[in-house]
Amino acid sequence: MKVAVIGTGYVGLTTAVSLAMNGHQVIGIDVVAKKIEQLQRGHSPIFEPGLEEALQHVLTEKTVAFTTDIREATEAQIIYLCVGTPEAEDGEADLTYVLAAVEQIRQLHERAPAERIIVIKSTVPVGTGDKVAELLRTCEHLHVASNPEFLREGSALQDALHPSRIVIGTDDEVAAEKLRELYAGVDVPWVQTTRANAELIKYAANAFLATRISFMNELARLSAVIGTDVSTIAEGIGLDSRIGPQFLRAGLGYGGSCFPKDTIALLQVAKKNGVRLSILEQVREVNRTQPEWFLSQLKAKLPELAGMRIALLGLSFKPDTDDIREAPSLKVIDYLQKEGAQITAYDPVAVESVQALYPDVTYTQDPYDAFAGADAAVLVTEWHACIDLDWAKVKANMNSPLLFDGRNAWPAKELQERGFFYLGVGKSGG
Ligand SMILES: NC(=O)c1ccc[n+]([C@@H]2O[C@H](COP(=O)([O-])OP(=O)(O)OC[C@H]3O[C@@H](n4cnc5c(N)ncnc54)[C@H](O)[C@@H]3O)[C@@H](O)[C@H]2O)c1
Repeated sequence: MKVAVIGTGYVGLTTAVSLAMNGHQVIGIDVVAKKIEQLQRGHSPIFEPGLEEALQHVLTEKTVAFTTDIREATEAQIIYLCVGTPEAEDGEADLTYVLAAVEQIRQLHERAPAERIIVIKSTVPVGTGDKVAELLRTCEHLHVASNPEFLREGSALQDALHPSRIVIGTDDEVAAEKLRELYAGVDVPWVQTTRANAELIKYAANAFLATRISFMNELARLSAVIGTDVSTIAEGIGLDSRIGPQFLRAGLGYGGSCFPKDTIALLQVAKKNGVRLSILEQVREVNRTQPEWFLSQLKAKLPELAGMRIALLGLSFKPDTDDIREAPSLKVIDYLQKEGAQITAYDPVAVESVQALYPDVTYTQDPYDAFAGADAAVLVTEWHACIDLDWAKVKANMNSPLLFDGRNAWPAKELQERGFFYLGVGKSGG
């Protein structure tokens, strides 16, 4: 089928490439000319495992093309909206980009009327799909469906090719039929419902996953005091099939482009409708204070942080992505800089974006260089390059062997045996 994808960021690019890999003819559209030029040359503007190779493959096969000109989408039977919905000042989702893209589609449709399905993949508050349908009500043969995206950065392409489920929000049979045709080869559970339900499913999924993380982070605070080990607690409860093991890992809190903005946007939707989601409020509060809580343990060990050299391992909000939006590393840097510490940081792919925000941090290309002369080291993101380390070399490089494992990913027992002071999240002692 002929498909257009508006917005070629993390979601749009992955959607375009995966649909092209599944045999559809795809045109990717973005307003950023530099991004489109890069994509046309086969370079992915984002770091995502396997994405650049797949992009080059579909470009060679000529099943995908990229443009800044929406008129090149004239032939598309299905138009995906994958533009950003960032957090507005009041916490609500900012729909500026969505509405601008809808207006472009309206104009396209007026110039060249045809049967078209608009699929909203951007995460949008309940009621947005209906609002878009209302804005397009004069456009005959234009159908609006919601199709929220659940991919995870770091495994985006695999998630797009093999999703856990497909949620379609529409009561329009033409739209549903076309989407069934589009996803014919993808054999996964299919939830077809109203646009509003589909929109809330997306927010509820992210809010629930964030809740699990904050629940464990709060248990970590208790564990640190009463001498229990939160990782063992997670293992013990995760084996219960009613609970499952995912998203039970205590750490420095969630970050990224979705959980922070989607949890506040859901709170705003509830507030506007006179409902209080008090659990979600606390989820956000625990997350907000988690890096500071963990670093207060570092400060207890090193009360005079001013002038101390602290190594930071990992900067992206999670491994296998270059995304630093709402990354805990930024809060860690803020905290340590406020204390007057000298920071040396390492990350395999995210240095450039963090450097633009914090030019006064020292950045290294090699993890071992980050440890050089350090009075303490903090694991912020559990990249392989930050955890598979030669610990004898690390110890020899450090000024003082103090390790603060913000992801419970370093080998605690081995490190203690090697004479390091080791403190993880929700672990007692050191
Ligand atoms: N990133 C994720 O992991 C993820 C997962 C699921 C859902 N989502 C949701 O998907 C949406 C997109 O997220 P993202 O991370 O890909 O955002 P992003 O910021 O990486 O990409 C958005 C792209 O849209 C482009 N754009 C904006 N207005 C445009 C217009 N009028 N025409 C063409 N292009 C336009 C921007 O230039 C940018 O390249 C958001 O609503 C987000 O919440 C994101």
